Amino acid sequence: MERDPWFEPAHAATPGGDGGDAVASEGGDGPGFGGWSAPHAAVGGGIGHDLPPEPAQGATRHDDAQNLALATSDAEVDALNAGFYGAIQYPWPPFYFERLGDPRFWADMLDQDVGRRERPVLPPAGARVWVAGCGTNQAVITALMFPGAQVLGTDLSDGSLRVAERNARQLGVQNLELRGESILQGGYAEEFDYVVCTGVVHHTATPGRTLACLAAALRPAGVMQLMVYNRYHRTFSTAFQKALRLLSGKQGYDYEAQLDLARRFVHHYDGPGEMPAWLAEYADAPDAQLADVLIQPVEHSYTVESLDRMAGQAGLELLAPVPNAEDAAGDTLHWELEMGDPGLQRAYDALPDPERWQVTNLLGLEASPMLWFYLQRRDSPCPRRSTRALCEAFLDGRFVPARTTRRVHTRGPDGEYRATPDQEVPFPVLRGRGDPRRVLEALDPREPMRATLQRLGIPVDSLPAVNRLRVLLASSAFPYLRAI
Ligand SMILES: C[S@@+](CC[C@H](N)C(=O)[O-])C[C@H]1O[C@@H](n2cnc3c(N)ncnc32)[C@H](O)[C@@H]1O
Repeated sequence: MERDPWFEPAHAATPGGDGGDAVASEGGDGPGFGGWSAPHAAVGGGIGHDLPPEPAQGATRHDDAQNLALATSDAEVDALNAGFYGAIQYPWPPFYFERLGDPRFWADMLDQDVGRRERPVLPPAGARVWVAGCGTNQAVITALMFPGAQVLGTDLSDGSLRVAERNARQLGVQNLELRGESILQGGYAEEFDYVVCTGVVHHTATPGRTLACLAAALRPAGVMQLMVYNRYHRTFSTAFQKALRLLSGKQGYDYEAQLDLARRFVHHYDGPGEMPAWLAEYADAPDAQLADVLIQPVEHSYTVESLDRMAGQAGLELLAPVPNAEDAAGDTLHWELEMGDPGLQRAYDALPDPERWQVTNLLGLEASPMLWFYLQRRDSPCPRRSTRALCEAFLDGRFVPARTTRRVHTRGPDGEYRATPDQEVPFPVLRGRGDPRRVLEALDPREPMRATLQRLGIPVDSLPAVNRLRVLLASSAFPYLRAI
């Protein structure tokens, strides 16, 4: 597939993890956390609390395709992850954070991503956002993106939260609260308009339970952004993690011993097949990245089908893929395939979204997009918009160029981010070529997009082609057009 020439990181993107299984339970004691505010509120009713059973304490799980030997109990895996992410502080510091001049810019783009014009996901007043398993950066980035919302960031790692707190203070972020707690311990019930959880659920003992806790925290019309590992992206990492576990010859998990073995592999291993070359790619990686990929204590992974099933068990449905900088950079952005044959295309296009995406997942294997989706409650008062409906709304819509300014806070030589912006520049900056550029140049806000495309001779009857244009022109990853 040709690389999308339009990619421009829209903000300080945070690399995340991916994927998971559906198992769950109740409660469970988490590790204690010093220095951060205590968990609050008992678990309420609503969706998400019909939890699948937790594995028995100390039970060992075997699965050829997933790294689950240490997925014993929620509490034990939370303790492992608190240690692991205490040691590696994930992710590493970004070069910059940014603020946009228009405080509703990203909230409006979120609405465009999921087709929620009539009722914004984040109301102009009183909006609350939860960044669950926020790591070092994501809660700060989210608070900067949605200055009109009150943002809560939670994580197991005290060290990561300290980094987040320091950066938030340096940047003068006022709308962020950080808490040291497990997702399984928070007990939030119908409190958030938007729940963001990327790269976390698949590292817990029972992802289905974790997802149910996230679902329970959503207000009825709330939206979730979830990313879990794509099974076909994890062939090497999961196999390597399992081999390393055997080689370390120990019960339990020893971070330093695992990291030492992993480094030896990266620099010296010369066995058959593609593993040596894959490992060598991490030769210059920071420890945090190396550890995150090569020595995870627990790693589930999914296909669209198993993710959709787990979501359904938590009372959720998949809404739409999240257009994101990582897929854009990796040339894996598009879920809608051009099949190359009219009969195949008809059969493919006729499938409901999750089944069509599963076909894309199965056929694309390692070249399929990340499993990074928006979800909502099945009992949401806002009807789900299918990809076809999103494309129809795009064709019927009228648009103006999205324009604001971007203030960039770069990291100084002392590692500090300055509250005073280094630069204020126009945003977004138009890049790229081909049909998206032609559309932007020919844009006429008085006519619907369909008429503009027809004027340019661009077909409007191909779902993959129209969806591609929609994503490359009017989404949070490519925020060039704003609907009017
Ligand atoms: C791969 S990092 C992703 C960080 C962040 N979401 C991002 O995308 O940049 C996984 C994070 O999830 C946190 N985590 C794992 N299990 C958790 C749990 N049960 N509750 C809260 N945080 C958890 C880890 O401490 C770690 O910071």
